[in-house]
Amino acid sequence: MSNPSEAELIHMFKGILFTTRSSPELLHSLDTFDAREDDVLLVSYPKSGTHWLAGVITKLYNAKVTLTSPIEFGDISKLEELNKLSSKRIIPTHLDYNMLPPNFKNKKCKMIYISRNPKDTAVSMYHYYRDNPNLPTIDTWTAFFDLFLKGDVVCGSWFDHFLSWEEHENDKNILFLFYEDMKKDLPKIVKKISLFLGLNVSDNDIQDICKKSSFSEMKSDTEKENSDPSHTVCALTSNRKLIFRKGAVGDWKNHFTPKQNQRFEEIFNEKMKLSKM
Ligand code: A3P
Repeated sequence: MSNPSEAELIHMFKGILFTTRSSPELLHSLDTFDAREDDVLLVSYPKSGTHWLAGVITKLYNAKVTLTSPIEFGDISKLEELNKLSSKRIIPTHLDYNMLPPNFKNKKCKMIYISRNPKDTAVSMYHYYRDNPNLPTIDTWTAFFDLFLKGDVVCGSWFDHFLSWEEHENDKNILFLFYEDMKKDLPKIVKKISLFLGLNVSDNDIQDICKKSSFSEMKSDTEKENSDPSHTVCALTSNRKLIFRKGAVGDWKNHFTPKQNQRFEEIFNEKMKLSKM
């Protein structure tokens, strides 16, 4: 069987590339999504550590919560499916701030945004493109590097995504996190998340959560499971085995040429000149 064509895998909505796993009908109808005040949104650009954060958050809640699939994943029946859930919902999304259903904003739902060094994000996404049959074929790192800088990848430009959320960094209902801070001191960040979510968690429990959320633990847990669509929090795959690759900071140094690094820095400095990052 031949590989699916790019048009079968990808479509454009409001200037941003989505996979066909996010139907245009669903994307159109997100504006009418009925948020609940106790929903928690888990927001990221792909490959920023979403599964890691989701693992931590679900372990933090003692009460029954449902970690849903991403809000933009699926067809129009998705809204009804989420409506039917009776438990508290943790809802992942890769949407940028402007595309988020307005009800989440009006109801001031808690949102956690996780970000990662865009150079490592680009490298992680490159490998994801190569391994993930839901994404178009990429021949070389050089070709992907150009697409990433232009924002011609799923979920659009990293810069636009980050800036759309950074503008709301000081909103009381939004917590901003960085992958690199989680790598440096996970217990500190888990404590911060628990305070933000209003959860009372003992230091012992925090230590235990951190142990169970290490890269090696999460990877081996995944290898023991069968793939289940409800087990990914990324709208781009249902195969959890594609998620746990290397889990390191600085892998970009193994991919970027000095020239690519210089170009990246120039574009970063230009696009991010108003950013505090
Ligand atoms: P790499 O491809 O660099 O290894 P997402 O969950 O947003 O798709 O992000 C996936 C990235 O997070 C992958 O990066 C993956 O290895 C890394 N990751 C997942 N779980 C992790 C963990 N427990 N600790 C550190 N990194 C983790």
